[in-house]
Amino acid sequence: MEIPDKIIAMAPSIAQSEAQMEAAYADFAGRYPAYAGTAALDRLRATEYSRLDEFGQVYLDYTGGSLFADSQLEEHLTLLRSGVFGNPHSNNPTSAAMTRHLESTRRSVLSYFNASADEYILFFTPNASGGLKLVGESFPFTPEGRLLLTFDNHNSVNGIREFARAKGAKIDYAPLVAPVLRLDRERLETLLDQADLARENLFAFPAQSNFSGVKHPLELVATAQSKGWRVLLDAAAFVPTNRLDLKAVQPDFVTVSFYKMFGYPTGVGALLIRRSAFQKLERPWFAGGTVNFASVQAQAHVLAPGEAALEDGTLNYLSIPAVEIGLRHLQAIGMDVIGERVRCLTGWMLEKLLAMRHGNGHPMVRIYGPATTEARGGTVTLNLYDPPRTPAGLSPSGGAGRPGRHFAAHRLLLQSRRWRGSRGIDRGRHAGRPHAWSRCESFQLSEVDAEPRP
Ligand SMILES: Cc1ncc(COP(=O)(O)O)c(C=O)c1O
Repeated sequence: MEIPDKIIAMAPSIAQSEAQMEAAYADFAGRYPAYAGTAALDRLRATEYSRLDEFGQVYLDYTGGSLFADSQLEEHLTLLRSGVFGNPHSNNPTSAAMTRHLESTRRSVLSYFNASADEYILFFTPNASGGLKLVGESFPFTPEGRLLLTFDNHNSVNGIREFARAKGAKIDYAPLVAPVLRLDRERLETLLDQADLARENLFAFPAQSNFSGVKHPLELVATAQSKGWRVLLDAAAFVPTNRLDLKAVQPDFVTVSFYKMFGYPTGVGALLIRRSAFQKLERPWFAGGTVNFASVQAQAHVLAPGEAALEDGTLNYLSIPAVEIGLRHLQAIGMDVIGERVRCLTGWMLEKLLAMRHGNGHPMVRIYGPATTEARGGTVTLNLYDPPRTPAGLSPSGGAGRPGRHFAAHRLLLQSRRWRGSRGIDRGRHAGRPHAWSRCESFQLSEVDAEPRP
C-alpha cells in the first residue's frame, strides 16, 4: 500500500522519535526513581527472555499469562531426562520416583506461601478455575446458608453461585463504589453481619481484581471469618506480582494458576484448603485416584484421606515438578523487585493515558478503577472516547439500549499484542473505532457504571 506524501511529511524522523523516546524515558526515570532498583530485570530480559527481541515482541502482561525464562525449560528437561518416571498412582520404582518429585513440589508450594502443613492441605488442579469448581461443588451450602460474592469476581468464581443456587443457599453480591471500584465497606459489613453462625457460609473475593486491578484489603479475611464466614480468596491475579503470606492471612480456600506466576508449565494450578474447612467439604462424586475403596456391587465408596480426595484421576505429573523450578526462579528474582517494576510501569501508564486529549480538549480515555498505584495492580481497564465524548466504536445508547449504563471497557493487562511503532496510537487510522492494540476483552459495566463520560 502506498503511503500518501502528506502522512510521510507528518511522521517524525527516526532521529526525532529517538530523541522523544529518550526524553520520555528521562522523564519517566525522574518520576519513578524506584525503577532503577529493578535493573536486574533488564539483565534477565537479555539473557532469559531474549526471544522477545528475536521476534520483535513487546509483552507487558503480568496477569493473563506470564512469560517463562529459558532456564526454567532447560532445568525441567534435565530433570525429566534424569530418571524414568511412571504414573504416581503405583508403588513401582518409576512411580515412586515421580511421587517423590510431586511431594517435593507440594512442600515447595506450601513453603512459598508460608503455609504450614499442619494448617493447609495443597491440592494440584488444572488451573485456578479447577480449584474454584472443587470448592463450589463440595461446599456444604444449605437453604439457611449464604454465598457472598463481590461484583468484581472472575467468572470462574461467579460460577460457584450455580452450586449454591442448586442447594437453595441465599446469594448476595457486595457492591463496589465507582469510579475507583473499591468495595463499599459499609454495605459489605451489613452483608457480613447477616450470616447464620450455625450454618456454613462462604464469602469469595479476589485478592486482586482481574477486571479493575484493585487490591482488596486482605484483613477482610479475618473480619469475615469472625462473623461466621468461610473465606475463599481468589489469588490468581494477585500472586504473580505480590507476596501472599498464609501465616499472616489465613483464608479457608486459596486458588492460583502457576502459568500466571512464571509462564511455565500451563495446565497446573493449586487449591490450598485449611484443614478445618476441608473436614466440612462434601464431594459430589469420586474418581480414579480419589477413593480408597469403591464397590460396583454395593455401590459404595470410601474417599481417600488428604490430598488424593480432591485430585481426580491422574495428575499432570510430568509438568508438576516444573512448578518447583518456577518458584525458585521467582524467589531468585524477588517478588518485591517484580512488584516494584509493575508499580512504576502502571503509574506511568495511568498518568499518560489520563493526560491524552483530543484536539478539542476532551479526554481520550476513561479509566475504570483507581487512577493511582495505591492498592492496585497492573491491570488497567479503560474506554477510549471519540472527540464528541462517545465511547469509541460504540453507539451512544450502548449495547443493551440503556443509555449511560452499558459500555464495553477495554482491559489493558499492561498488555499489548504487538505495539507497532513507538508512537503508539495512530489517531487518523483508528479515529472512531476501538483501537485493536488495546482491546483484549470487553466487559459490561452495567451495575458499576452510571456515568458515561470522562
Ligand atoms: C482473578 C482471577 N481468577 C481466576 C482466573 C481463572 O484462571 P484460569 O483461567 O487459569 O483458571 C483468572 C484468570 O485470568 C483471574 O484473573
